Amino acid sequence: MAILRFSSLLRCRKWAKSDWLVASIGCVLIVFFLSFFFDTTSDSVPSVDRSPPVASPNVLVKLKLSSKAQERGAFCLDGSLPGYHFHRGSGSGSNSWLLHLEGGGWCNTIASCSARAMTKLGSSKYFEDEVAFQGVLSSDPSQNPEFFNWNRVKIRYCDGASFAGHPEAEFKNETRLFFRGQLIWEAIMDELLSMGMSDAKQAILTGCSAGGLATLIHCDYFRDHLPKDAAVKCVSDGGFFLNVPDVLGNPTMRSFYHDVVNLQGVNKSLDRSCVVKTEPSKCMFPQEFLNNIRTPVFLVNAAYDFWQVRVTKPSRRTFDLFPFDSCMMLYLYIATFQIQNVLVPASADPDRSWAKCRLNIKECDAAQMKVLHGFRSSLMDAIGKFHQNKVGGMFIDSCFSHCQTFMSMTWHSPTSTRIENKTIAESVGDWYFNRKPVKLIDCPYPCNPSCYNLNFT
Ligand SMILES: *[C@@H]1O[C@H](CO)[C@@H](O)[C@H](O)[C@H]1NC(C)=O
Ligand SMILES: *[C@@H]1O[C@H](CO)[C@@H](O)[C@H](O)[C@H]1NC(C)=O
Ligand SMILES: *[C@@H]1O[C@H](CO)[C@@H](O)[C@H](O)[C@H]1NC(C)=O
Repeated sequence: MAILRFSSLLRCRKWAKSDWLVASIGCVLIVFFLSFFFDTTSDSVPSVDRSPPVASPNVLVKLKLSSKAQERGAFCLDGSLPGYHFHRGSGSGSNSWLLHLEGGGWCNTIASCSARAMTKLGSSKYFEDEVAFQGVLSSDPSQNPEFFNWNRVKIRYCDGASFAGHPEAEFKNETRLFFRGQLIWEAIMDELLSMGMSDAKQAILTGCSAGGLATLIHCDYFRDHLPKDAAVKCVSDGGFFLNVPDVLGNPTMRSFYHDVVNLQGVNKSLDRSCVVKTEPSKCMFPQEFLNNIRTPVFLVNAAYDFWQVRVTKPSRRTFDLFPFDSCMMLYLYIATFQIQNVLVPASADPDRSWAKCRLNIKECDAAQMKVLHGFRSSLMDAIGKFHQNKVGGMFIDSCFSHCQTFMSMTWHSPTSTRIENKTIAESVGDWYFNRKPVKLIDCPYPCNPSCYNLNFT
């Protein structure tokens, strides 16, 4: 299938003419599919404002479908088996485990979940056979100085509710959608425990976007299923979605979460003390339960998280002008399809006054910058109490970005984003190994010259 071949192209080799053709068809298909979705950040990309550094070769890691899933009834949206990519640790990393939960938005209606069930975010039929391990997953000590020889696992996201849906919510009719996110999480945990994780001495649960939210939802479960004397911590990247109204004052994100929670029966996976006292969908927002998590948590987040700020699809013109000159740009392009979001969803921008600003933060006028700074302030307020948390850590940069841990260029490279001259990798390492407290909050945009800022113009 074209789209499968297309995904294999994303591994950055030199493209032949036929590859360009397949890529174009792939793009058209992607545009077609993605127009159904709420979001597609599935482990996509950091944004760049300058030419990306030359990527070093990445290890490709094979897909394995879960062997415990069948017996536990853990299925992707379409009923296929979930899966993961596993790279075994070695040497001093043999008893250390790092799990990364893939992201990629959520589905909130029968229609959007049905469309999703026909893609790799809802069915293992479309998973790549192998994926590149980069950033926090990389085996290369120069890209991943602290965790390169750990056991590393990328868990694929195919349920549409941050690994937290429950079968009780499934319809008892011919709408054949499986809401088994929680079961997928439990089945794969079981499987990894039996593969040696039950002897872990050190462990980290991480993930980005919807996977960053899943990291927070499942953090204590992860802790509780590992040995008592193991050092277990969680790192949530781009998962701090804010409960703020959009620019017109409508609770777009809140009502979206409300639909996800009700459709997929997510209530049962959410923080108990939160759901007994408030409307369950509110408990999808980390600000409502972060302080109840018993396990140490680190937040990596951009204060101008583009997924949360961005407006609509790029125009057809951007598509035509798009320079297919590198894999990086292609990833970036795919990342622009953030159809709906927190701060400026399409419905809140009928006259397209945010059109330029959504392509490049440098194009935002004073009034728009005020809104963006306001968004940053809301983030600061929301993490205010967490800032006092003794075992917590954070790296909140002022970049126009989203998901910064699984790409080597943002995680750890000579040109990656730094705060106080530390990369995200170094900061997470200092915190995880208790070398020093890490509570890094960047000065407001545009003060940090090391940012990769999104620029599509
Ligand atoms: C199945 O049930 C759901 C919920 O009751 C309903 O919304 C949906 O339309 C039904 N689907 C079909 C095909 O009947
Ligand atoms: C959500 O779950 C909690 C506890 O599991 C329960 O007390 C509450 O009634 C549920 N709320 C809804 C709306 O189902
Ligand atoms: C920043 O860190 C790099 C490498 O870690 C070091 O070479 C450089 O001197 C540091 N710069 C400052 C201003 O501390």
